[in-house]
Amino acid sequence: MNPDRRKFLTQTATFGLGSLAAANTLALANEKTKPAAPAADPASGDPSYAIELRRSPYLLQMRPDGVSIRWRTGRSKGTPPVVRYGTDPDLLDRSLLASELPSAGRNTSDWVATLTGLTPRTTYYYQLELASVTLCGGDEDHTFTTPGAIDSQGPVRFWCIGDSGSNRQREISAEAALRGGGSGTPISVRNGAKKFNKGKLLTGGVLLLGDNAYPVGSDANYQSAFFQTYADLLRSNPMWPCTGNHDLTGDVYGRNFAVDQEGLNPLPDSTGSHFPFYYSADIGNLHLVVLDPWQNWWQHTPDTKYRPWRKQVEWLEKDLAANKRHWTVLVSHFPVYAAGNINSDDGLTDLLRADLVPLCDKFGVDLYLCGHDHTYQRSYLIAGNYGKRTTFDPQKHQMSAGDGREQPIVKKPGANGGTVYIIHGAAAGGRPHGSFDHPVIIPTKNPDGKIRNGWLGPGSFVFEVEGPRLQGWAIDDKGKVIDQFTMEKRA
Ligand SMILES: [Fe+2]
Repeated sequence: MNPDRRKFLTQTATFGLGSLAAANTLALANEKTKPAAPAADPASGDPSYAIELRRSPYLLQMRPDGVSIRWRTGRSKGTPPVVRYGTDPDLLDRSLLASELPSAGRNTSDWVATLTGLTPRTTYYYQLELASVTLCGGDEDHTFTTPGAIDSQGPVRFWCIGDSGSNRQREISAEAALRGGGSGTPISVRNGAKKFNKGKLLTGGVLLLGDNAYPVGSDANYQSAFFQTYADLLRSNPMWPCTGNHDLTGDVYGRNFAVDQEGLNPLPDSTGSHFPFYYSADIGNLHLVVLDPWQNWWQHTPDTKYRPWRKQVEWLEKDLAANKRHWTVLVSHFPVYAAGNINSDDGLTDLLRADLVPLCDKFGVDLYLCGHDHTYQRSYLIAGNYGKRTTFDPQKHQMSAGDGREQPIVKKPGANGGTVYIIHGAAAGGRPHGSFDHPVIIPTKNPDGKIRNGWLGPGSFVFEVEGPRLQGWAIDDKGKVIDQFTMEKRA
């Protein structure tokens, strides 16, 4: 393959696309070369049948040797779509028939193809076809790179977005529509993160922190607020979903993120697969665990015994006990320490903190990531603090003296080494309401020059582990780093 073309493919296939304009120009160029799709089933004349892509592909359950690709077409019948793939875009020499999953859309068909037998740390190209029509792919935009083998020491990098799903259905004037959303929108946050990332491969992927599609998590909300907003990232980077309290519309969340029939049920049997509601995955030397206190607890089971949630906590304890990776990251939509528009002393959060923080301590979880509070708040490395904010004692609960900005936070492996708790729920803009004085949260200089225990502006969070080192960056919507830290774990 021509080295210049390979370089171009590598640059454009990753997070660091030069600009949205360039991506759109490329997408338009590709559209022009596609064959025209028939508007209706040519055999029956059924007008609801359409050979067209209605949701760009997205990658789930990425592992060193496989990945599940999901996408949506117009309603289809007959032979399912085919995915062609290979390591050379000019020779997609492997193919697989897709399976259909129940669609949350109207007159649409949702598809999954789970590729297996892939080679770790290898770049693949893919193309989707239906009824011999190329829907997308076969180009530099449809590619992914498998992670290294489990336990490998190479870099694992994530982009995290919390409460990103802005889909405000407001009445706006034509003048306001022309003026546009400006800063602090999901688009500007996304572009700021791209600017910061400078094309580095997201070997971990896109990590959702919940509330992905406002206001009610309907399929229309998901389509406009999520799948269209992040389409260019999702078709080339693995994505790890997380449900939030705005996922209120029936089984839309499950239908959009399941990779098999079992994943459609928010209250699965404790022995079955829990993806996409709660699950874990090993990526290089990192163990990722995503929890679901919402669908699995507060939405569906408001009884006092929280039985499905108890099952989930039991599952979590077993999962963490079996974990052998160097780094462990726990994700839930809800914070356990917060003083922004969420007050973590409000009762419900007390319950969550009482369940989860002892397990973070017992199994030495390194990062707890969440959204829900539409700000950025990062804690010190702490352990053993299970009460309300007044119970925090730095002498007793802080496991490392520093904030990790100038000198690394040094963490001891094993139980009670401490956890850094991070909220970033500002991917659709910040919300400047709250006291911002929680004592476990590190002070940060805000755009107005004031020091607060938290940052009020829009943004997202990037972190990377490599060997014994973890680095994290909070990025604003201009691509500027507003907080960064390093943690090293050693005995
Ligand atoms: Fe929320």
